[in-house]
Amino acid sequence: MSAFDTVVHLIYLLCATAFVLGLHLMNAPATARRGNQVSAAGMGLAILVTLAVLIQGQEISPYAAWALGLGTAAGAVAGLVAARRVRMTAMPQLVSLFNAVGGGAAALIALGERPASTQAEVTGVLDVLIGALTFSGSLIASGKLAGRVPGRPIVVPYGRWISLGLAVVAAVMAVLVVGFDGGVWALAGAAVSALAAGVLLTLPIGGADMPVVISLLNACTGTAVAMAGFVLESTPLIIAGALVGAAGAILTKLMADAMNRPISAIMAGGYGTGDAIAVAAGAGSAPVREITADDAAIQLAYAGRVVIVPGYGLAAAQAQHEAVALAQALTSHGVEVVYAIHPVAGRMPGHMNVLLAEANAPYEQLQDLEESNPAFPRTDVALVIGANDVTNPAARRPGNPVSGMPILDVDRARSVIVIKRSLGHGYAGIDNELYSDPRTAMLFADAKAGLNALVAGVSAYAS
Ligand code: TAP
Repeated sequence: MSAFDTVVHLIYLLCATAFVLGLHLMNAPATARRGNQVSAAGMGLAILVTLAVLIQGQEISPYAAWALGLGTAAGAVAGLVAARRVRMTAMPQLVSLFNAVGGGAAALIALGERPASTQAEVTGVLDVLIGALTFSGSLIASGKLAGRVPGRPIVVPYGRWISLGLAVVAAVMAVLVVGFDGGVWALAGAAVSALAAGVLLTLPIGGADMPVVISLLNACTGTAVAMAGFVLESTPLIIAGALVGAAGAILTKLMADAMNRPISAIMAGGYGTGDAIAVAAGAGSAPVREITADDAAIQLAYAGRVVIVPGYGLAAAQAQHEAVALAQALTSHGVEVVYAIHPVAGRMPGHMNVLLAEANAPYEQLQDLEESNPAFPRTDVALVIGANDVTNPAARRPGNPVSGMPILDVDRARSVIVIKRSLGHGYAGIDNELYSDPRTAMLFADAKAGLNALVAGVSAYAS
């Protein structure tokens, strides 16, 4: 091995260390930003060194080197702009778009390479199949989250049979590529089958199951990238892909467990959509009790224990600072306050924890579902801020889109105050029976405005 090769391998080792260190730093909100920077620096270095290797070994023409450099710069700028501009609430669809780009790029690599060995042929076929499926599936998932494709489960007639047919076609194409030197046409056939399968598999999944699907597609992106690494014999690609694949797979399992769904049932699609319409029609007509901000403030100030339940509406209103200000006002008035955080509250994993950490909510006041649920019966007021599905008692019954999902048992508190703008649905698209519970009072307001009014009310009452 030449001195140049040794230096290159040492730099790749440094890059791989940066990926792992970055992932480790992402374990806590306080260090997550630095983790992102460390990983990105590792990837930037890996790209530069790979370009240097290609140029030094004269594996590409000067024109191609320029094209690669410009492409890299354009991609980096586009990624940077998209990531800086995105609203926190639109993050899942951006993640899904990044998954699509990753999977698509990985598939194109295998389509453009001439495999030198049987191993490269096998990994190339896997790369094309997983990458193409991830590309189309992620585009549909992103469209559903962004509202460009209907978010409800879309059942394609004979969809499962068609998917089975596509799987058979893909398998035949794979055998042609590996066993009979089928070449680029067979590989393209495999890609087309996988693209169609990605669409068919993602369309029937809807509502509350989307986060799990996005995480699963993220794991697929990582796997496709690792396969592309084998095709190109690129160590950093193999390591980065394996890390993304493993992290995505673990996250998928954690989220499926949090929703009490087997991953296979989510992928089968249309989970629990049976009586969605009945649920929607039933609870919507039930009367609800309204409360003014002043009355709610007095009820909160009189309470011994208050549990704040944040949800997507808090994020949409960017009301985390107001929520923490209310908690502080209550605490200084002698009220015990904790936050109950559901694992899929909001639109992405850890959404609520990140927002509350940003507003400096004391870490010891943040409780997860297992910790908070047993304490609801001895809670005077559960204050639900822009959370809906994660508090819906319908989850305890079978046959609706949230069936089986563990919920925060706010309906077991002595009283409940819900801040939201209307009786509008949450992500799962069904009515919430909590709102018509006699113990529940609705404070119809934007989360930020409602919380500001509560802070003013509690402060006035305390002074
Ligand atoms: P949702 O059930 O989606 O309900 C959010 C509620 O916030 C809506 O009913 C809406 O009611 C209210 N809202 C919106 N803007 C508001 C504002 N400015 N001020 C006050 N309220 C506002 O939220 P959730 O309870 O957090 O549940 C999360 C859902 O998203 C689950 O179904 C989950 O499966 C899904 N999901 C989760 C993730 C992850 S990983 N966290 C990712 C994707 C999807 P109004 O319109 O009446 O105000």
